[in-house]
Order: sequence, then structure tokens, then C-alpha cells
Amino acid sequence: MSKEIRPIHVPDIGDYKNVPVIEIMVQVGDTVAAEQSLLTLETDKATMDVPAPFAGVVKEIKVKVSDVISTGSLIMMMESSAAAATLTPASQPHQSAAPAAPQTPTQPATGTAPAASKVAAPVSLGEHFTGKSHASPSSRKFARELGVDLSRVKGSGIKGRVTKNDVQNFVKAALSQPQGAGGMPSGMPVLAMPVINFAKFGEIETKPLSRIKKISGANLHRNWVTIPHITQHDEADITEMEIFRKKLNEEYAAQGIKITPLAFILKAVVTTMQQFPDFNASLDVSGENLILKKYFHIGVAVDTPDGLMVPVVRDVEQKGIAQLAKELAEMGAKARDKKIPAVDMQGGCFTISSLGGIGGTAFTPIINAPEVAILGVSKASMKAVYIDSAFVPRMMLPLSLSYDHRVIDGASAARFTTYLAQVLADVRHFAL
Ligand code: COA
Repeated sequence: MSKEIRPIHVPDIGDYKNVPVIEIMVQVGDTVAAEQSLLTLETDKATMDVPAPFAGVVKEIKVKVSDVISTGSLIMMMESSAAAATLTPASQPHQSAAPAAPQTPTQPATGTAPAASKVAAPVSLGEHFTGKSHASPSSRKFARELGVDLSRVKGSGIKGRVTKNDVQNFVKAALSQPQGAGGMPSGMPVLAMPVINFAKFGEIETKPLSRIKKISGANLHRNWVTIPHITQHDEADITEMEIFRKKLNEEYAAQGIKITPLAFILKAVVTTMQQFPDFNASLDVSGENLILKKYFHIGVAVDTPDGLMVPVVRDVEQKGIAQLAKELAEMGAKARDKKIPAVDMQGGCFTISSLGGIGGTAFTPIINAPEVAILGVSKASMKAVYIDSAFVPRMMLPLSLSYDHRVIDGASAARFTTYLAQVLADVRHFAL
């Protein structure tokens, strides 16, 4: 039989239009059997598979997950050949190459269904079935929603087909596994994210994430889900500090140095860390020891058009306020110009994230692992504070300290922010 590259179109799917592709089960170069599922579509009522109308080799895939397609849309180019057809497993119905014209979708995939193995966070058991699974679209959807890898589920249906019941039993078995070191997690499995066709609800535009956002996003995600975070909120009276800062600003204006509250906060944080060494530490890989650092390098979150960067100010304890202000300004400018080398973002002991120049009253910053704490700073404002039987106007700075509860307990965190607030209220503490 001669080889021929032929287009594959979406068969007649009734009144449905612009249906999102939720899964592509084949790759370029795959040899597929006739009737084997190529991709899955999901309408608001059901999922359906588009089967291969003939056996052959996938040459080109014209769609990707989330694309929306309708009856007659071109989805793939496939080479049909006698050689390819003979590769069809014996259990599959062998069909001669059918016309590439739209067909009625067939119900189940009679070929292998590796798709479910692509879902995130599959439930797995110590001993599990690793054969290939046959399942109806609804069973596959059910498995996908529960994050179950279908290739691990043994089917009890006709010809070993995996039923919804099989998926349910698999999850029950996974949940009943005892938890132990290196064992399976107990509790509810994490659901896979729903695939939603937002275009159904209105106009949309797809904007790729920047490289920085992709990298920082993965780190933030890991830190958020693996570290038990608590955030301690407090306020510092910086009325006197502000008077001093404004005076310093006048003195240093001629040298082009602008001193913002951040330089004082940097210095105050290090003064506080010297009193509370557990905040200048990291857990070792075993999780059984704390590595205490004798140096004070502080990361500062910088907002750039491409995302967040965290350059590190080194040896803060050895530097004065004007020097720190100068370095902060230079660092911020370099980060925004994308001129910060990777080495300048390494070795931090603690991070400060200041939104004080923008606004807000409090937030919950995410710890920059392997550090154990991060200080969020919000915008200072004048408040009426009750002092010596009278309300007096004071400039109050909101502080939000997130800490790793495996390393730091609540009382230490409250002591840390209380001391930090005292240092900021009376910057002579810097000299202690
Ligand atoms: N309260 C009140 N005002 C404050 C303040 C605070 N906590 N912090 C800064 N300001 C004032 C500054 O004095 C300055 O005022 P001025 O222009 O009248 O002189 C103004 O806000 C702008 O300050 P900014 O340029 O932001 O300098 P900075 O030294 O405070 O901060 C960076 C430098 C690099 C940290 C900052 O530009 C930045 O990128 N912040 C965002 C960080 C971020 O996105 N964090 C979120 C991580 S989740």
C-alpha cells in the first residue's frame, strides 16, 4: 500500500462549536491504530475523543491544548501506510484507511490511553498496576479530576476497560495506605486544575509569562506549599526616625544620595537579627539542624516590569545609612535595567519586601527559602496614638513578618517584631 500524508479533521460533533481541546494523546512520530484516540474535546456537558480514522504515523499536529475547534477543523496530518497498519496491536480492530472526511465520533478509545498519565500529582501506590489502560472519556475525565494516573489503575470492565468504579476504588485504596517516612500522603488527593474555556464568557487575550515570572513563580509555589508560614503583624513608631531621615536627606542631597525609610529598616533588621540569631539561619537538608550564619546579607525585593527580583545587600552590619541608601538605589536601578548578575542575588540570609512606596496596611510575604523569615513593610501613616493619657499624632510603620514555623515559634516572632519596632522608634539602638 502506498504511503500518503492525509489531513485529519474533527468529525461531526453535532451543534457544538468552538469546543476546547483538553488533551492531545499522541505526538509527532507516533504510530497509531485506526480508532485510537488522538485528542479529547470537552463541551460543557461531556468529553469526547476524536479517533484516528485510519492507522498511520502522526506527521504534524495542528492544534494544542486549549485551542477551540469545531466540526471540520484540521487537527493533524497523518501518513497512512500498510506498514503502519500492521503495527496496530492485535487486540485493536484493524481498519483500512478511512476517508479523512469528518466522521461521527466514536465513543471509547479502543487503543491505549496514555493521556491520564500526563495529569499533575498522580495518586500512586506502592504496588500498582502499570499496564496500559482502556477507558471511556467519562472515566478518563473522572480520573483526571482526581489527579489519578490511569495507567496505574487495573480495569475490571470488558477487555480490562477502566470504569469509574475502578478509579474510585483506586483512590480509596490510596487513601487507606498508612503514612510513613517516604510513604504515601494520606488525606484528600489534590484535584487537578479545571480546564476552562474562558472565551466562552467573553473576549480574552493570551499573554505569556515573562521568564522571571516563570522562575520566581515556581520558587514561590514551592516555598508556599512546603513551608508552614505564619505572619506576625506589628507597628513601629517612626516619628523620630523620620525627622532624622529628613535631616540626613538635606545633608546628603548634594552627593545625590536619597535616603528612604528602607535604609533604616535594613539596618534595624540586622540589629534585631543580632539579638535573635535563629532568624539568621537555614535548615540543613536533613531538616534536623539549623545552620546559623555569622554574616548579614539581606535580600531586597525589587519590583521590575518583568517581575520580582531579589538582589542582596552584603555585610549590612558594617555599613552606615547613607552607604546603604546609595547601594539600594543602585541595586534597584540595575534590577530594573536587567543588569543584576546572578551572583548578586545569592547568599541572602533574610529578605525585606517593601511596598511602603506604593501603599497598603499589611500583607503576608512568602519566605524566600532556604531563609526562615521575611519582613513585609507597608506604607507609614500618621495615626493617633494614646501616650501618657493623651492621643498624639505619630508616624506609624506597618510591619508583617512571615516566618517558618518549623524553626521559629510564635513567641520568638512576637519578640522579634517588638524589638524591631523599638529599634526603629529609637535609632540609637543601631549603635548598641
Ligand atoms: N512608608 C511611607 N513612605 C515610604 C515607605 C514607607 N514604608 N517606603 C518608601 N516610602 C517613600 C519613599 O520615601 C519615597 O518617597 P519620596 O519619593 O517622597 O522621597 C517613595 O516612597 C518611593 O520610594 P521607593 O522609590 O520605592 O524607594 P524604597 O527605597 O522604599 O524602595 C525598592 C526601593 C527597590 C524596594 C522599591 O522601589 C520596590 O521595588 N518596591 C517593591 C518591592 C515589591 O514588589 N515587593 C513585593 C514582593 S511580594
